[in-house]
Amino acid sequence: MTPEQQNQLKKSVAQAAADYVAENLQTGAILGVGTGSTANLFIDALVPIKEKIRGAVASSEASAHKLTAIGIPLVDLNDIDTMPIYVDGADEIDKSFAMIKGGGGALTREKIIADVADVFVCIADTTKVVSVLGKFPLPIEVLPMAVAQVSRALAKLGGTPVLRKGFVTDNGNHILDVSGLSITDPRAFESALNQIVGTVTNGLFARRSADVLLLGTLDGVETHIR
Ligand code: 5RP
Repeated sequence: MTPEQQNQLKKSVAQAAADYVAENLQTGAILGVGTGSTANLFIDALVPIKEKIRGAVASSEASAHKLTAIGIPLVDLNDIDTMPIYVDGADEIDKSFAMIKGGGGALTREKIIADVADVFVCIADTTKVVSVLGKFPLPIEVLPMAVAQVSRALAKLGGTPVLRKGFVTDNGNHILDVSGLSITDPRAFESALNQIVGTVTNGLFARRSADVLLLGTLDGVETHIR
């Protein structure tokens, strides 16, 4: 698939997600909004329905700026108890809707918002669908003082961690991108990663996977429900 074709799929799936929100979000409710190129297109597609949305919780400063620019007020996650819908992209997604996320480095806020949301809608094109997670290097957010220690622990689990150069997360931490993994049991592997002291969050979304997958294909957008 050419980059132009992939971008077209991202646009169609972003529009499908805005249609999903128009149909399923009650007027005046709060929406969770993710990060990345697909999420950016989704924010653009929200313009015609923005009056319906009382406010949004953003998973990154970048998405927060974009939401503000189109006139959707930002909401602090601490000020709400529930969130009906969270829409975000993924770097990889498998048939159980477990995902690798964090290519944009926003994995920690994404995981927190996903945990609050009633329904996680993943917006992805067909290049993101895999049978086994791990070809895309797994992002791990790490406290700066723990980079070497966490790298050793990840190597023991069979991965090859590489520090994302020149990148600091919105939370002031570093990212290790871990290649060489074949994640056959994503839930168990996520639990193992959660035990490594010094990690803030890992980009494996298996324990809280997506509920709905809007998948952009060359034949149109497919809706899959877990
Ligand atoms: C950001 C993410 C993104 O959802 C993921 O990287 C997909 O991005 P894109 O839509 O640009 O392919 O997890 O942290």
